[in-house]
Amino acid sequence: MQKLQSIYEGKAKVLYTTEDDGLLIQYFKDDATAFNAQKKGTIHQKGIMNNRIAAKIFEYLSAQGIPTHFVKTLSDREMLVKKVSIVPVEVIVRNRAAGSLCRFLGLAEGTALACPTLEFCYKNDALGDPLINEYHIRALNLATEGEIKEISGMALSINEHLKNFFLKLNIELIDFKLEFGRYNGQIILADEISPDTCRLWEVGTGNKLDKDRFRRDLGNIEQAYQEVLRRVIQ
Ligand code: TMP
Ligand code: ASP
Repeated sequence: MQKLQSIYEGKAKVLYTTEDDGLLIQYFKDDATAFNAQKKGTIHQKGIMNNRIAAKIFEYLSAQGIPTHFVKTLSDREMLVKKVSIVPVEVIVRNRAAGSLCRFLGLAEGTALACPTLEFCYKNDALGDPLINEYHIRALNLATEGEIKEISGMALSINEHLKNFFLKLNIELIDFKLEFGRYNGQIILADEISPDTCRLWEVGTGNKLDKDRFRRDLGNIEQAYQEVLRRVIQ
């Protein structure tokens, strides 16, 4: 499968058309951004590590009955994916308070949440991906009520599967971001799941194994991604 034309370039990935209308190539870059791209950098070999980590996670979720856009790995930095129409809503699932939730609600980092918590953000860089609720989603026709229900159910189910997946690797899943797409009238999981899009804390030490090392200049960024990859493929 050959890359034909770049149709979308995001902060960390590029999407290319292929000779098959229904399939795209998702290419993973080393570029890293934070705080709506106010902070920019690169993480050496991040694209290679995230491509492998995301593939493993998609395969695992698929085996648990979650439909995803992943088809197969093509190369170090490329995976073949189904061409979806992205729902312009980022879905954040949280198990403990961290990041923006701490600022928003004045919580100490790591505070346990009494139940897994869902948040929706409008996928709009110009507005800085603002937090929205289900009424905004319907009012702006971003998704139907049925689609919101479907997406919410899938996000919570993915959380349960991923918590187990990571716990077996001695990693606690603190929070993560998902994107969904429409494909043949069905909602499926799209984008990526990787240390770019999750907060992953080592059980026992609390060591951060995710993009917070870049966001907060904590050092040993590549090593953290490498460690997640090592555990995920073991
Ligand atoms: P937040 O605490 O900054 O809102 O982030 C929550 C989770 O979502 C965290 O695991 C990082 C992830 N995330 C992304 O993947 N992309 C983004 O643009 C943002 C803001 C967060
Ligand atoms: N990738 C996002 C950005 O640059 C934010 C983040 O992951 O912190 O906007």
